Amino acid sequence: MNYLSIKESRNRVKDFDCGNSDLNAYLKRYAYKNDKSGIGRTFVLFDNDKPVGYVTLCSASIDFENTPNNIKLPRYPIPAIKIARLAVDKKYQNKGFGKELLAFSLEKIAMLAQFIGVKFVVVDAKEESKSFYEHFGFIPLPTNGDRFILPIEIVMRARGH
Ligand SMILES: CC(C)(COP(=O)(O)OP(=O)(O)OC[C@H]1O[C@@H](n2cnc3c(N)ncnc32)[C@H](O)[C@@H]1OP(=O)(O)O)[C@@H](O)C(=O)NCCC(=O)NCCS
Repeated sequence: MNYLSIKESRNRVKDFDCGNSDLNAYLKRYAYKNDKSGIGRTFVLFDNDKPVGYVTLCSASIDFENTPNNIKLPRYPIPAIKIARLAVDKKYQNKGFGKELLAFSLEKIAMLAQFIGVKFVVVDAKEESKSFYEHFGFIPLPTNGDRFILPIEIVMRARGH
């Protein structure tokens, strides 16, 4: 198993199928374009030459009004990093690879957060994956039922930073 950037692997992802056509199309049509333009960085996990799953990360911000009341914050947009896409091929689902992609992402985010202000990890979850993120401690935002956040302190502590 190894990770490749989409730049290195864009000709090897055509057979990827996670069961969600938007997420399939993103990897095959847009991930490389967005990586090239600096909008989102995509990493693909491979089992030899087979794409197992992928994740796309980008920067984000959350309006103060949309953050949980119990977290004390200044009243301006709060910096975050977004897991913009995360999917596992159907043949590899329920074998721990979603967890692996999430761990890979959180490791990168924890590293960045040592040098750049990041308060939350954020994800806009599809209906079928909400419970996956909740399983790993993500909290739904009261103002937007699709948006989940994980405070950076939890990520840093878990990664030993
Ligand atoms: C959701 C998805 C990423 C999960 O990946 P996966 O490889 O199947 O999940 P894993 O095997 O790594 O599961 C890790 C843990 O999460 C749990 N889990 C997995 N999918 C879950 C779900 N939908 N709801 C709740 N828990 C889930 C597993 O039980 C496992 O628990 P454990 O750590 O206690 O053993 C994957 O099924 C997928 O790509 N689905 C289709 C596309 C999609 O909806 N993507 C998310 C869009 S943002």
